[in-house]
Amino acid sequence: MSSPKRTVRSHTCGEIRKTNLGETVTLCGWVSKRRDHGGLVFADLRDRYGMTQIVFDPALAGGADAHQTAGRIRSEFVLWVKGKVRARPAGMTNPNMTTGEIEVACTEIEILSEAKTPPFPIEDEIDVAETTRLKYRYLDLRRPSLQKNLLIRHRMLSIVRNHLDQAQFVEVETPILYKSTPEGARDFIVPSRLNLGTFYALPQSPQTLKQLLMISGMDRYYQIARCFRDEDLRADRQPEFSQIDIETSFLDEEALFPIMESMVAKLWKEILGVEVKTPFPRMPFHEAMSRFGSDKPDVRFGLELQDLTSVFEKSAFQVFSGALKPNARGIRGSIRAIKIEGQAEKFSRKDLDDLTAVAASYGSKGLLWIKVQAGGELQSPAAKFFSDEEKAQLASKLSLKPGDLILIVADAKNKVVFDSLGAIRLNLGNRLGLVPPLGQGAPAFLWVVNFPLMEFDDKEGRYFATHHPFTSPRPEFFEDFVAGRNLDRIEAAAYDMVLNGVEVGGGSLRIYRPDVQAAMFKLLGLSMEEAREKFGFFMEALSFGTPPHGGIAFGVDRLAALLCGVGPIRDVMAFPKTQKGHCLMSETPSNVTPEQLTELGIAVSIPKHKAEEAK
Ligand code: AMO
Ligand code: AMP
Repeated sequence: MSSPKRTVRSHTCGEIRKTNLGETVTLCGWVSKRRDHGGLVFADLRDRYGMTQIVFDPALAGGADAHQTAGRIRSEFVLWVKGKVRARPAGMTNPNMTTGEIEVACTEIEILSEAKTPPFPIEDEIDVAETTRLKYRYLDLRRPSLQKNLLIRHRMLSIVRNHLDQAQFVEVETPILYKSTPEGARDFIVPSRLNLGTFYALPQSPQTLKQLLMISGMDRYYQIARCFRDEDLRADRQPEFSQIDIETSFLDEEALFPIMESMVAKLWKEILGVEVKTPFPRMPFHEAMSRFGSDKPDVRFGLELQDLTSVFEKSAFQVFSGALKPNARGIRGSIRAIKIEGQAEKFSRKDLDDLTAVAASYGSKGLLWIKVQAGGELQSPAAKFFSDEEKAQLASKLSLKPGDLILIVADAKNKVVFDSLGAIRLNLGNRLGLVPPLGQGAPAFLWVVNFPLMEFDDKEGRYFATHHPFTSPRPEFFEDFVAGRNLDRIEAAAYDMVLNGVEVGGGSLRIYRPDVQAAMFKLLGLSMEEAREKFGFFMEALSFGTPPHGGIAFGVDRLAALLCGVGPIRDVMAFPKTQKGHCLMSETPSNVTPEQLTELGIAVSIPKHKAEEAK
C-alpha cells in the first residue's frame, strides 16, 4: 500500500526551516489556533518542539478535501497532516517563531482526536485562576512555559547524574515504605494489612538509609529521592518533593564542597550559559544571622542589620529594657535595627503599619520607627524615652543623616529579632527595587557553615537537633558535647548551600561512633528505650565498623525553580499539590471504602471541632 500511515510523522512541529523548502512532510500535533480567511484556512499545529503554520488551500492539487475537513477542526484537536513546505509570502513571515519563515501547504489531513473546548486557552499569557489550571493540570502542562520548565528540570537531572557518575557515585534506590526518618516534620504513615495495627512511615529523607549504605562500603552514593513531609506548606514547600541525595565516606567538607560547587556551576553554565565563580564564599551561621537576620541570606543587596543593644543598655523605654533581661537559662535578647538611607519620606504611616505587621507575623510585639528630620532631631513614637547620650550614640553608630529611617525590633528572644528583621529586610529589598527580578542578575551562591548543633525549644522545654540528630559536632566542641556542657554554644559540622536567599541544599558530617550517637539521643531527651525502638537497628549498625562519612541533599524542585526563573516550586512540578495538600485534578486525598478500613483494622473517628475546621 502506498498511502502513508496516518498516525506517524516525518518531522516535529518545531523542526522545519527554509532548508526544507519543497519537501513533502507529515506532522502530528494539537491545533493551537485556526483562522478562516474565506478561501484559505490557517492552523498553527503545536507539539512540545514548537509550532508550525499549516495552510489549507482548496486550489492546491488534492487540497480541496483537506480544506473541507479543515472547516471542522477546532482548538486542541489532534491532527495528522501531510503537505509541502513552502516559503511564507513576503510580509507574512513571523520572526517570533523559529518556524516563522515557512508554512506547510496541506494536501492530506486526518483528524486523530477531537477535543472539547478547553477550560482555558493553551497559551502562555493567560489570566486564569490557578485552581482551574491545577484541576486541568494535563492541559496546563500543554502550555509552552510549563513544558519548558519540565524540560529544564529533566536536563538538570541528566547533568547531575552525569556529573556524579563521572565522580564515581553510585545511584541506589531506597525504600519508600520504611520507618520514621526525623527531619523535623511529621511523618506520613501507611497502615500494614499484613501486620495489623502497625504502620510504615514514608521517609522524610533517606537519611538513615544512605548512612547504612556507607556502612555497607558503598562509599559514594546518590539518589534522586522522593521525600515526604507532613508540614505546613508554602510556595517553596510541597508535602512530597525530590532531593538530589548524596552521601560519601572518607571525605570532609574540603573534599565534598568542590564536587558540589562544580556540579551546580555546571548546571548554570550548561542550562543558562552563566559562568559561576567557584569556590563559593562561606559564611558562619552567626554572621549570617547578625548581618542578614537569616540563615539563608540574600547577599545581593545591603540593608544589613545593626546591633543597637549597647546603645540602649540602660534605656528608659520599657520595650528595650524588657528585651535585655536575661531569661531562666541566663540568655538575653537584643535590640537591632535596619537603616534606610535618605528615604524616610517615602514611608507613609500605612507603609510603617504594613512593616509592623510583617514583624508581628514573626512574633515581634512591635516595630519601632525613627525618622531623622531636617535639623537632625529624631521623630519617633518612643522619642521621649531617648536620653541625649543615647541619641548621640545612635547618630554616631548609624552615621545618621537627615531623611534616614530606622526600623528597630527589640525582643527577649533573639530568634524573634532576627526573624522579624530578616523578613523586613527582604520586604524592603523588594519594595525599594534592590532585588533583581526572578531569573535575572548574577546568581549569588554561598555556603552557610557552623550551624548550632542544637536549639532549645522553650515550649517543649528541651533541645532539638538543628539539622538532624545524626549530625556531628565540630571537633573543637566534642568535649563539651560528650560532657553535655555549653549546649547552646556547640557548633555542628553542618552546612547549607544558599542561592539568592533560597536554601537549595543542606547536609553535614555525621556522628559515626555509637557512643556519641547515644549521647546525642540522650541530650535530645530520648529515653534509651525510645532510642532503641526508633533507631536500635541503626545504632547496632554503627557498631560494625562505620567509616567517617557525610553528605548533603539538594532540593530538586527549588534548584529547578531557580534555573527556570520562577517563584513557586509547583511551577516546576508536573503534578503539584495545593497549600492544603490537595491534588485538585484527582481530588486527592479522598475517602476509602469501609471494607478497606475493616481490612486494615482501622476505625476513623474525627473530633467534631476538627470536622468543622476541615469544612
Ligand atoms: P534538609 O531537610 O535540609 O536535609 O533537606 C534538604 C533540601 O531539601 C529541600 N527541601 C524541600 N523542598 C521542597 N519541599 C519541601 N517540603 C522541602 N524540604 C526540604 C531543601 C533542602 O535544602 N537528610 C538531610 C540532608 C543531609 O543531611 O544530607 C535533609 O533532608 O532545598
Ligand atoms: P507601645 O509602648 O506598645 O505603644 O509601643 C511604642 C512603640 O514601640 C510602637 O511604635 C511599637 O510598635 C513599638 N514597639 C513595641 N514593641 C516593640 C518591640 N518589641 N520592638 C520594637 N518596637 C516595639
